[in-house]
Amino acid sequence: MTQHSRHDTRQHHEHGHGRGHGHGHGHHDEVGLAELLDLDAEVLGSYLDDMAEWVGQHALDQPRSIADIGAGTGRGSLALARQFPAAEVIAIDRSAAMLDRIRVSADEEGVADRMRVVQADLDVGWPAVGAVDVAWAASSLHEVADPDRLLGDLHDALNPGGLLVVVEMDGLPRFLPDDLGRGRPGLELRCHELLNRANWNAHPDWRPHLERAGFEIAEQRSITVDANPVPPNAGRYARAYLSRIHEFLDGQLPAEDLDTLDHLLTDDNPDSLLRRPDLTVRGSRTAWAARRT
Ligand SMILES: C[S@@+](CC[C@H](N)C(=O)[O-])C[C@H]1O[C@@H](n2cnc3c(N)ncnc32)[C@H](O)[C@@H]1O
Repeated sequence: MTQHSRHDTRQHHEHGHGRGHGHGHGHHDEVGLAELLDLDAEVLGSYLDDMAEWVGQHALDQPRSIADIGAGTGRGSLALARQFPAAEVIAIDRSAAMLDRIRVSADEEGVADRMRVVQADLDVGWPAVGAVDVAWAASSLHEVADPDRLLGDLHDALNPGGLLVVVEMDGLPRFLPDDLGRGRPGLELRCHELLNRANWNAHPDWRPHLERAGFEIAEQRSITVDANPVPPNAGRYARAYLSRIHEFLDGQLPAEDLDTLDHLLTDDNPDSLLRRPDLTVRGSRTAWAARRT
């Protein structure tokens, strides 16, 4: 059963990328989240260009206007801008810090003239950005207070025949071997069990929500990303991710597991996350391509 009530969706919007949305999204937390989003895109990000191509397969014409909903650091916005050179991309987020980063990256990638950033809290309402041909919501729909209302807004904002693509992480990214050579084997599994129980990164099956909002599902797909060979920044990504997990699970994990996590997160240790050669990086996503009929 993947369906959660709206209450659940709102209560447990801890995201695999980070935490803190809704209960004080302070500067420290946003900086941490931004770093994590960029590392995620760097390490697992090959899928973003594939996804942008997939959007092209489902979009009816060459899109002229694309909205990125909860754009974060804009890794999706940039992939879409690369894929659709004739389109203006409107990156929407409530966080000024995230939008600043998008401005800088758009400049670096030479697409600043086609990147519009819009600061808006989507819990308050849909911003007046005009009609769009494509809307993209990656790891963001489960974070808003009322996803069904937002889906209705998106339906209205899309031109007839327009495409909405929703992407969510399935499960949590995995980095560690079962046996770390210290502590009890299975540490990552035990962390994930606790996080799943806390609905960390929980999202429902969006299909019935999309259909209720008047969309027709064009395709649903699962994407598994297995970064092989392991990219150079895998250790930094694992470190950023596991330190958030550590913060969240402090007091819940057995003391021995917390010790092992501390050890992994202490960079000077020869078998710390930054130094060990046996990390893997695996993640998976589900994506729904839905058309406004
Ligand atoms: C987990 S991040 C995902 C970012 C990006 N889409 C990605 O996949 O890398 C979720 C983003 O949604 C934004 N967000 C969450 N709730 C929002 C709201 N009510 N209004 C606008 N943005 C929101 C956050 O600021 C954050 O940047």
